[in-house]
Amino acid sequence: MKQICYVSYLSDGFSVNETIESIKQVSKIKNKKYGLTGRLAYSKEIFLQFLEGDDINVDITYTMIQNDERNHGNQVLFIQESEERFYPEWDMNFNYVEKIDLVSINKVLQLAQRARTQNHFQKSEVEKIFEDYE
Ligand SMILES: Cc1cc2nc3c(=O)[nH]c(=O)nc-3n(C[C@H](O)[C@H](O)[C@H](O)COP(=O)(O)O)c2cc1C
Repeated sequence: MKQICYVSYLSDGFSVNETIESIKQVSKIKNKKYGLTGRLAYSKEIFLQFLEGDDINVDITYTMIQNDERNHGNQVLFIQESEERFYPEWDMNFNYVEKIDLVSINKVLQLAQRARTQNHFQKSEVEKIFEDYE
């Protein structure tokens, strides 16, 4: 299956709460229907998402997300093939925190840098990316 992890920015003029509520509702239905699982975090205008499932469904959904005007500046941290589904129990687990600071954002970006030289991320490493959002 395909796994993708990316960050993006909330677009101007969109309310955080409404956007998040709507993403949650849509994901609950569509991710179940298309066999997608993963986690999504939001803090300080930045979304961080890990999405996994069949290649075609991940591709279609990620294309929709990229074209979704509520977010922009999407930057992929990594894309990989995996034998194992990391979050079989979550259609899309969601964390919304206020406290993320620049240090954490830098950490995510450093991971992105590292992803360019590393070919596979384990579940524990994905958990590390999200740990500051819990
Ligand atoms: C940051 C972000 C994450 C999203 N994650 C998902 C997702 O996991 N699954 C999903 O179906 N839609 C997700 N969406 C919503 C899609 O971009 C799109 O609006 C939705 O799939 C369209 O549903 P529709 O078929 O009702 O038009 C996300 C949107 C944003 C901005």
